Amino acid sequence: MIDKKMEKAINKQINWELYSSYLYFSMAAYCDSVNLKGFSHWMRTQAMEELTHVKRFYDFLTSRGGRVIFSEIKAPPTKWNDPHKVFEETLKHEQHVTKLINDLMNLAHDLRDHASIGFLQWFVDEQVEEEESVDDVLQSLRLNENNPGGLFMIDKELAQRTFVPPAGVTI
Ligand code: FEO
Repeated sequence: MIDKKMEKAINKQINWELYSSYLYFSMAAYCDSVNLKGFSHWMRTQAMEELTHVKRFYDFLTSRGGRVIFSEIKAPPTKWNDPHKVFEETLKHEQHVTKLINDLMNLAHDLRDHASIGFLQWFVDEQVEEEESVDDVLQSLRLNENNPGGLFMIDKELAQRTFVPPAGVTI
């Protein structure tokens, strides 16, 4: 049976993962509104990936005898100045999520909860990838700052992203 402190912390994290999905759908809607379809596609793919994170936490908590409790999801922002700002905020958000995952891992260590430590390691590794992929886009945007065709090229590139659910995860 999972410790009540860990149950509460995972429920909080589920809310953050849902907010992440909500935020990225909102960013996708902004990108669509300025006709950046590739950027929108990338963000919608990211939003779907966040839902697989929700499912991972949901299944783990349930399998440990915990109870999933959903709470209110705050509304995300709806407007940004440009795609550069969108990706700056995305990186900031993912860095915050990394901190939350590290806090969860610290709690698991404090509780000597080995099952949670093993489970959370996947998220520690995942956050390294998430931050890297966002930073890659941000670097491309910076490199193309003074190149009028650059945004168009990046948009085409981001349209190629495919959604691959992590192994063993189905919605
Ligand atoms: Fe679920 Fe992007 O962290």
